[in-house]
Amino acid sequence: MHLITKSALLVTSLLSLTACSEQTVSPNPLPNPTSAGTIQELMLNHIDPHADGVWNAVSTTVTAAGIDEKQPRTDDEWTAVKQHATALIEAASLLADTGRPVAATGVKSENPGIEESPEEIQKLITANPKMFTLYAQQLRVRAEEALAAIEAKNPTALVEIGGRIDETCEQCHKVFWYPNQFKSN
Ligand code: HEC
Repeated sequence: MHLITKSALLVTSLLSLTACSEQTVSPNPLPNPTSAGTIQELMLNHIDPHADGVWNAVSTTVTAAGIDEKQPRTDDEWTAVKQHATALIEAASLLADTGRPVAATGVKSENPGIEESPEEIQKLITANPKMFTLYAQQLRVRAEEALAAIEAKNPTALVEIGGRIDETCEQCHKVFWYPNQFKSN
């Protein structure tokens, strides 16, 4: 129930972001998307749930009753996954802009010492904006590949590309979110 409400909200907010990017033709321009949200908000409300929608589309579960192969089968099921991939592409494009603040004022790291504070993350991005943008662009390219696999109704390719999307999330997080996690002191 909660999840359904949440995804309805996501769709609404993503639609408004899309509307923003078309502001040149809109008679009532909405605020520029670069100032419309933080990186944290993009992660929590767009990138993470839509990546989940892509990752969860195909799975193999071994149970006592046998092997349960889950994959989209009907047109409606494929359309639902396609919407997640399309939304992920859109969110990755927004992420590529390094002018977005990391988090709302006053937000603290949930795991200090492991995850950097928003101020530290901001410094890391400012010191290396090109790398941040490259990872965001890589996410976009991989989400586009996922969309192609969905359009081809190819669950095997979708799983493989899903793995590479995950690598991109992890690579960017290791550089900009928790660079100290693997240090030994
Ligand atoms: C271009 C860099 C980049 C990419 C690519 C990226 N992230 Fe992030 N992500 C960040 C940064 C920076 C933070 C820390 C900001 C924050 O949330 O405080 C973060 C934080 C998060 C958070 C925690 C949000 C919170 O504060 O609770 C989640 C969840 C997350 N990312 C999921 C993902 C997933 C899933 C992907 C891939 C589909 C992904 N991210 C790809 C940069 C990236």
